[in-house]
Order: sequence, then structure tokens, then C-alpha cells
Amino acid sequence: MLTTEQMLSKAKAVRKNAYSPYSTCCVGVCIRTTDDQYFTGCNVENASYGLTQCAEANAVGNMISAGAKEIAEVVISSDQPKGFPPCGACRQVLREFAKPDVDIHFTCQDDILKTYTLSALLPDAFTEDYLGGE
Ligand code: THU
Repeated sequence: MLTTEQMLSKAKAVRKNAYSPYSTCCVGVCIRTTDDQYFTGCNVENASYGLTQCAEANAVGNMISAGAKEIAEVVISSDQPKGFPPCGACRQVLREFAKPDVDIHFTCQDDILKTYTLSALLPDAFTEDYLGGE
């Protein structure tokens, strides 16, 4: 199993591929799955700004496309000096495939990581449990 620091290296490597000419923010993500596979993603912007894809969502897309099912740990790296917590939409995207106690790490200053559980970032998440039923 890779360490969190090794996952950060992967997140930093994929961050180099970010396509972000509009915001100039480069973001890279590494996901570890419960069966110890690793998937990465970067942000992909668009001239029609609202079509921008976040790095977390792209990493999740790569994971699901490869047939993997469940997230065990996430590391998010950005080139922003203040760091880069995951946006609200990405918290929801991660929650679809991660249990509430999964650790989400993000850079707060270059290589320094802040760590929260997903439930701390997204308490009382909207999940399939709230769909249908009595
Ligand atoms: N971005 C991400 O990749 N993940 C987030 O959770 C927040 C925002 C990207 C989208 C856009 O390319 C840039 O960061 C600035 O918002």
C-alpha cells in the first residue's frame, strides 16, 4: 500500500497535466481504493467556463471506468499558496463512492496536508438512503 506522501507525489505528477488556462489553478488528485488500486485526475477547463471538470470528479471517473468500486483515501494537490479544499460538488461526488470515515487530505500550503474525514467535510450527506422509501 502506498503512503499518503506517495499518493501526494502521484497527485502532484498528474497536476502537471491540468488544463486550466482560465483560472490558472492546477489541481491533481490521487484516489486509493479499498482494493489498493490508485487512480488520478486533473482539472479540465473549458472556454464555456461552466463546463469545467474538477480534478476529483475526473479521478472518480477514471476509477469507475476501470471497474473499481470504493474509495479508501483521497489526496488533493494544488499549486495555490493558500491550498485548495475540495468544492462542495466534489465532496458530494466523492461521497457517492466513499464511506463517511474516509480521510480526505488536501494541500493547505504547497506540500503540507490538511486532513478531514469526508463526514466532517460533508455532514449528513445526501445519499441513496434518502431516496424513495416510506
Ligand atoms: N477545481 C478542482 O479541480 N477541484 C475543486 O474541488 C475545486 C475547483 C478546479 C476547477 C477550476 O479549474 C479551478 O479549480 C478553479 O476553480
